[in-house]
Amino acid sequence: MVMAREHADVRATGLGLVDGDVWLGVAWLDWWLVGNTDTVDVELAVVPEYRRRGVGSRLLEVAADQAKAAGRRILSGTNTAGDPVTGASPGTRFAAARGFVQKHAELHQVAELPLDEAALDRLDQPVDGYEIVQWREHTPDEWMPQFVELLSGMSEDVPTGDRTDEPIHWTPELVRNAEARRVAQGRFTYTTAAVHTASGELAAYTQMGGTPETPDRLNQYDTYVRRSHRGNRLGIAVKAPNLRALQAGVARKAVLHTWNAPENAPMIAVNTKLGFRPVAQRTIWERTL
Ligand SMILES: CC(C)(COP(=O)(O)OP(=O)(O)OC[C@H]1O[C@@H](n2cnc3c(N)ncnc32)[C@H](O)[C@@H]1OP(=O)(O)O)[C@@H](O)C(=O)NCCC(=O)NCCS
Repeated sequence: MVMAREHADVRATGLGLVDGDVWLGVAWLDWWLVGNTDTVDVELAVVPEYRRRGVGSRLLEVAADQAKAAGRRILSGTNTAGDPVTGASPGTRFAAARGFVQKHAELHQVAELPLDEAALDRLDQPVDGYEIVQWREHTPDEWMPQFVELLSGMSEDVPTGDRTDEPIHWTPELVRNAEARRVAQGRFTYTTAAVHTASGELAAYTQMGGTPETPDRLNQYDTYVRRSHRGNRLGIAVKAPNLRALQAGVARKAVLHTWNAPENAPMIAVNTKLGFRPVAQRTIWERTL
């Protein structure tokens, strides 16, 4: 299902290494068509009993050859399951052994839903001068022109460490394409935004969601406050109602996952107040081709 439909922003391809009819490992390649068009993201997974036999290396070299042949400059990969403090994992040792350089790290926090209502009540405080608006799978037409500005701002401002990172200039067409893909894949989202009442300006948004295939696993996606509206506690002002809508909507126990750069200390502090705890560190690596 995740391969469903053609996408305007990314093309995905897969590689498998097989021995007869036994699958030893797979590589998943994301070819960015907007933003990081010099980069191919590669994700590797080797069946545990076939590890340390060169399977990952073989898959990686084929991926590198394909990327180079297509004129791409950078192979990038994410190690998701690093130690929460050091970031180390077999994946990081593999990446370092295969010529990758670490470019960025993010703390992975989780919270068990439903969150404690009293904690949510304490944090869910309206901010004077702003109104909350919410939507599900389709951005209302009236907000689209401003929503693409916020999405582009998010792409420019989110901390990415030393990663090669070309911001995405979002357009209504890209948003509608992403929404259609999400619906086709059966995924769902909850969006909460804050509108500055006096000016009608869309000032902040946050998005969370999941997929029915893993109903006990939900993700926090973007949270962004427009530069001219920062410092007004709008981050938490959109997060708390979005959490309420999400937990009422899914109406079951689930784990909500979120990732933030350590330099994003305010966001991590807010998450901690909401009951999130650290479980891992993910690190992002690049190899120049
Ligand atoms: C990371 C992973 C893909 C490596 O696959 P693999 O087939 O075992 O890797 P290789 O046999 O090609 O290993 C190449 C080199 O990487 C290093 N390496 C790999 N796994 C290692 C480990 N567990 N500990 C230390 N070094 C390791 C070694 O230097 C190894 O060479 P050596 O065996 O001659 O010492 C595999 O462990 C895996 O699927 N892990 C779970 C998913 C994951 O973390 N993917 C990476 C993020 S996308």
